[in-house]
Amino acid sequence: MARPHVEFIHAPQLPWVESGLQGWAWRPLACKTLSADTDNGGMTALLQFAPGFTDREFVLAADFELFVLEGGIEINSREYGLDGYAFLPAGYRYQSLTSRAGAVVLAFFNVGPARKPWASASASASASEPNGLIERIDTYAMPWTTADIDPAVQFLRLSHKVLRYVPATGAKTILLATGAQTHPRDFREAQLQHDCVEEMYLLGGEITGERGVMYEGAYFWRPPGKWHGPFGSRRGSLSLVRFVDGHHQNTWSQQALPFSFEPDYQPELPAELAALASQPWSPPRH
Ligand SMILES: [Fe+2]
Repeated sequence: MARPHVEFIHAPQLPWVESGLQGWAWRPLACKTLSADTDNGGMTALLQFAPGFTDREFVLAADFELFVLEGGIEINSREYGLDGYAFLPAGYRYQSLTSRAGAVVLAFFNVGPARKPWASASASASASEPNGLIERIDTYAMPWTTADIDPAVQFLRLSHKVLRYVPATGAKTILLATGAQTHPRDFREAQLQHDCVEEMYLLGGEITGERGVMYEGAYFWRPPGKWHGPFGSRRGSLSLVRFVDGHHQNTWSQQALPFSFEPDYQPELPAELAALASQPWSPPRH
């Protein structure tokens, strides 16, 4: 596992790159790579499908987990509209992949998304669905819940929708909402860490942490064992959060740190993103 710590960047800071997906024959498709594993090619990216995009009869070597940010796509004639979600395991058969009006999709690949010939998987996959398949979730149809949320972080007024959970590995994907005007009591709190990777894409609103203020499009990939927080939110937030390579449990630091709604931008970035460290980003507001 060699995906470096990325915490945090804003997707609008990155350029769209044509042919950003090595080994994929999809055209036209532009890509913003948010994080990438240099060993196995795993990556998290924004994919931009042009209106009229169409492809058919292929298989991927990677699990393809997706969340639709803009527009919509159709896979095997099944529609994935705004905030549509799926987990399509490696070996899933894509009879067709199209986008009538164009789309921007948040995409997670556990390994490099190499395209394999249709025929290579047809024999084994024709009789049964690949393990772990979540063909589609209408996330608006799911209820919000506070079940299984650590009471110690409820000063953030958290609620979530669990889109995917694999008990055997701990892998989990959730939509997570925080309340507005939330902050640690007395503006002081201990820090947290987990034994697993925590990954987040901020879908809307704002979250303030010790590394700066995250707005819509903020992204981090945080390896295990990294202290983080405390956090608060002036305007509330909705994010997509994944726990990877382990079970999510909160370990608290002994020492409490002060919390501020006006932190400096202090990211941890790999060399290819290091130039962004001196470019704090925020959306126009006035
Ligand atoms: Fe965390």
